Amino acid sequence: MEGLDGCGKSTQLVKLADVLRARGFSVLVTREPGGTAIGEKIRRVLLDTATSNLSPMAELALMFASRAQHIAEVIHPALAESTIVLCDRFTDSTEAYQGGGRKLGSAPVRQLHRILCGDLQPDLTILMESEVAASVERARHRNKNRNGRGKTDENRFEQESRAFFGRVRTAYLAIAAREPQRVVVVNARGTAAETHARIVEVVRQRLKLAAKTA
Ligand code: TYD
Repeated sequence: MEGLDGCGKSTQLVKLADVLRARGFSVLVTREPGGTAIGEKIRRVLLDTATSNLSPMAELALMFASRAQHIAEVIHPALAESTIVLCDRFTDSTEAYQGGGRKLGSAPVRQLHRILCGDLQPDLTILMESEVAASVERARHRNKNRNGRGKTDENRFEQESRAFFGRVRTAYLAIAAREPQRVVVVNARGTAAETHARIVEVVRQRLKLAAKTA
């Protein structure tokens, strides 16, 4: 599941997992950066607003360090047991945020993905499509409420400019245009219930297709 900060990904992942479990599937919900003990430590460094002077290349390397561990420790074992893995962000996030947002380009991200992740590709990527302004505002509001003291508790990325998120959004849409068979763009501008219905329909179609070709 991919999209801008505050587009509602985490809520949608949980709701999708409930639907799939109710239909008898074994489902694992996980996230990046993070998903393992080591990955969560890396996540703290990456998202902490007190982390200063992290170079874009070091940021890129840490995203992949977290991911390589996640694949080895969690994703591969789950797939081996035929569990459906629902992951909150994967390499498309790196291509969009580090490649687009930080202007490192797609090529190094895709190359590192081949080297460090064995080019593991999701069967389906849902790109939740939303406006930059609305999403980032929602992420900030969420963190303010979570903090509870009226003080904002943004992560290091949420402090970035509109221009940064504009580049992230453009990079995401370029990935979707390049790989339309893997990436399905879902309108996430409506209510959570509307978005959920759209996502369930996309997944239902994909599972039907998978069952036919199995
Ligand atoms: P998170 O709080 O999980 O954001 P959200 O709930 O909005 O998804 O923070 C993850 C942040 O890390 C998010 O701002 C996007 C960023 N990120 C990257 O820049 N590159 C990556 O490869 C990944 C996985 C995340």
